[in-house]
Amino acid sequence: MEQPPDQSKRPWKFSTFVYSSSILFLLLAIFLLSFTTTDLYKTQSLRFTFTANRISSYIQFLLGFYDGTPKSKSETRNLASSTSHCVLWMAPFLSSGGYSSEAWSYILSLGQNLRNHRFRITIEHHGDLESVEFWNGLSKETKELAIEMYRTQCSPNETIVVCHSEPGAWYPPLFETLPCPPTGYGDFLSVIGRTMFETDRVNPEHVKRCNQMDHVWVPTEFHVSSFVQSGVDSSKVVKIVQPVDVDFFDPSKYEPLDLIAFGDLVLGSGMRNLGLGFVFLSVFKWEQRKGWDVLLKAYLREFSGKDNVALFLLTNPYHSDSDFGNKILDFVEALKLEEPGDGYPFVYVIDKHIAQVDLPRLYKAADAFVLPTRGEGWGRPIVEAMAMSLPVIATNWSGPTEYLTEQNGYPLMVEEMSEVNEGPFKGHQWAEPSVDKLRVLMRHVMSKPDEAKVKGNRGRDDMVKNFAPEVVAKVVADQIERIFEDKIRK
Ligand SMILES: *[C@@H]1O[C@H](CO)[C@@H](O)[C@H](O)[C@H]1NC(C)=O
Ligand SMILES: *[C@@H]1O[C@H](CO)[C@@H](O)[C@H](O)[C@H]1NC(C)=O
Repeated sequence: MEQPPDQSKRPWKFSTFVYSSSILFLLLAIFLLSFTTTDLYKTQSLRFTFTANRISSYIQFLLGFYDGTPKSKSETRNLASSTSHCVLWMAPFLSSGGYSSEAWSYILSLGQNLRNHRFRITIEHHGDLESVEFWNGLSKETKELAIEMYRTQCSPNETIVVCHSEPGAWYPPLFETLPCPPTGYGDFLSVIGRTMFETDRVNPEHVKRCNQMDHVWVPTEFHVSSFVQSGVDSSKVVKIVQPVDVDFFDPSKYEPLDLIAFGDLVLGSGMRNLGLGFVFLSVFKWEQRKGWDVLLKAYLREFSGKDNVALFLLTNPYHSDSDFGNKILDFVEALKLEEPGDGYPFVYVIDKHIAQVDLPRLYKAADAFVLPTRGEGWGRPIVEAMAMSLPVIATNWSGPTEYLTEQNGYPLMVEEMSEVNEGPFKGHQWAEPSVDKLRVLMRHVMSKPDEAKVKGNRGRDDMVKNFAPEVVAKVVADQIERIFEDKIRK
């Protein structure tokens, strides 16, 4: 998962000032209101007294974000309210990154199935910057459930905390954020860290932070072994897969998006009046890890203007500007490819914001999904494409090994590793997908549409069977209930 951007590494205790001017503060305010009677939170409350007179207006402000009347406690959906057992889930709920969408998918699926559980859930934002736009973009139901969860009252001594974020945000955090657990280890019944990395190892600082947790949840077998090999206590590491919303990503419910209207043509000048032909789609943040260089090399070497094929890249900036068209042209120039006699095949970039609600239509407009990534924590666009019954080609390393098989897609075999040469994981290893093997698979998918369709359908079946929200919610709930049972027995 990505690191929180541009946050200085000042000690957290100096960060009070920042809370007071942020949404985080008002969420925290709500959180504190439910805890003010406990000694544990008095210290935290004190830190915020100077703004206490603003709390109620902040709450009004937050409630103003969704135009429904909040349900009173007695009519909440929280049917488990007879129990004192509680789960405090802390994650970057109000930012738009990978941990955020994963955390929402858990609490929404747990929330919808709450009547089956013997614990209540409360949530708190932590671990990344918060965005008002993101909150505004959530559905009314989601906001209602979220606010209901914020208001759930819990006693720390009967609460399991889930810290769902990169370990640098765990207590004591390495950058400005509300720490998780909020007051350190030991005040709560049990503390779980949920995290993942995209390289072959976990660095020593992160290993230390994982080992402070009672349990460490990782999404795949790949992570179980890389965490344990790096020194995380094997008795703490548990695999908890990630859900994908198979009701939302359901191909039978959507018409295709008009891709030409959204994409900017970067390369290719063939006969456009023939229509788009076969469409490859890739979705990624513009960073080396995603293997866009491998994808462009393979595509431009394999296809030409006569192939009636198009590649659409839905991308957004990652610590870079968004002039992707010129970046691609510069890259192609540096490749020193000889332009085919019948021209380059089409390459389009989509860098406009595509609303979450339009994403299924985007997948629906493609014939195949391709992502020759160097490493993934999970690979959310890959599973979304699979849920949409697209045949997918993705690197068979890290996250995708958990769900991608020769039966439900096209795993891109890895023969080589390469060293990470930038960012926080410099010096680690990750996969170096083969350009030649990718060329073969892309040509294969395009020329065997019947086989590709069978695999695409199998992909959806596997997503429904193994990663539907209610399936994963049960796995999570079972884990949590087991921890409560262990604690009660002691
Ligand atoms: C937790 O603390 C509350 C008061 O702070 C107390 O009433 C309750 O019995 C405690 N629960 C357990 C399981 O110790
Ligand atoms: C993909 O990787 C997994 C795990 O390393 C391995 O068991 C499987 O055989 C690989 N599949 C292909 C097609 O390379």
